[in-house]
Amino acid sequence: MIRPFLALGVETSCDETAAAVVRDECEVLSNAVHSQIHLHARYRGVVPEVASRSHTERITGILEHALADAGVTPEDLDLIAVTARPGMIGSLLVGLAAAKALALHFDKPLVGVDHVAAHLHAGFMAEPDMPLPCLTLMASGGHTALYLVEARGQARRLGRTLDDAAGEALDKGAALLGLPYPGGPSIQEAARRGDPSAVKLPRPMLGPDSLDFSFSGMKTALLYHLRGNALTRPMPELSEDEVADLAASYQLAVVDTLIRKLRRALRQHPDVRSLSIGGGVARNELLRARLAEDRELRALHLVLPPLALCTDNGAMIAGLGTHLFRERGIRDDLSLDARATSRREP
Ligand code: KG4
Ligand code: ZN
Repeated sequence: MIRPFLALGVETSCDETAAAVVRDECEVLSNAVHSQIHLHARYRGVVPEVASRSHTERITGILEHALADAGVTPEDLDLIAVTARPGMIGSLLVGLAAAKALALHFDKPLVGVDHVAAHLHAGFMAEPDMPLPCLTLMASGGHTALYLVEARGQARRLGRTLDDAAGEALDKGAALLGLPYPGGPSIQEAARRGDPSAVKLPRPMLGPDSLDFSFSGMKTALLYHLRGNALTRPMPELSEDEVADLAASYQLAVVDTLIRKLRRALRQHPDVRSLSIGGGVARNELLRARLAEDRELRALHLVLPPLALCTDNGAMIAGLGTHLFRERGIRDDLSLDARATSRREP
């Protein structure tokens, strides 16, 4: 019998301290996450110093938690995978230091993983035999891009945001509506009671062929709607019904724009066979429902990773790390360093 391959994945690039144990690249044995959202909520965004300090406090507990949940000891592991880029340097360094210490002490191989490439890999973990190529939308608070995934660990970027990310647009829109941070979930919640056709907001498409995104105009349109084109009006007091209508209209504008770009990408790449999504915005219920129902997109095989694999997590790091180590022979040594940006396109 072939012994299963066990990888530990460590993720601290942003505001989640996360670790997970994954068997044979896809089977998630444990997925421990400590979210720092409560620490950053009052600043309406992630504060780097607060983030790295909290990672430092939590990392040991999260590692113990992930190993205990999976019922394994560090000696059982075959690989330690860790997010090395892109992200906030001070946060990345906490995960890297922990991963290196484990690798050194227990004499285990170490591999550094690109965070965005790992989000893309979540589709394979959800469905290892998905038909390729796969059109993948990666939408989070920091990134929004479209990829053509041609093989495991091999993706070509078709377009990206030129300004705000989709999640950032939701976070900023929520701030204008007085809804709590993070904006994606709070707009989704408020939108349940609202009328999505109440307010007309733009769907920025950037010319007839572009697969890039631009979301910054959307929050400006919402701001103008609230304060008038000359911004001469004070911010109005909004009733609960008005907030609900605005949240529903804003959420629809963001989701509609993402769907239209996916349709456009499909028309330009008719050989695409599957469709997948990743990143925090991929948790959005309206987006998930619309992808399944859309007249054009429904021709594709739809892979919706479970919610726990959409937001930042260690399982996707362990999954991609396993692929890189086993299939490509990639391995890092203790000189592995943190980088704020991707080395090249994932
Ligand atoms: O991938 P992620 O957890 O962290 C990074 O930015 O890397 O994504 C966080 C983003 C935030 O902007 C948040 O508002 C958004 O994902 N988000 C959502 C939902 N849950 C989180 N956006 C829409 N609907 C949701 N249910
Ligand atoms: Zn992420």
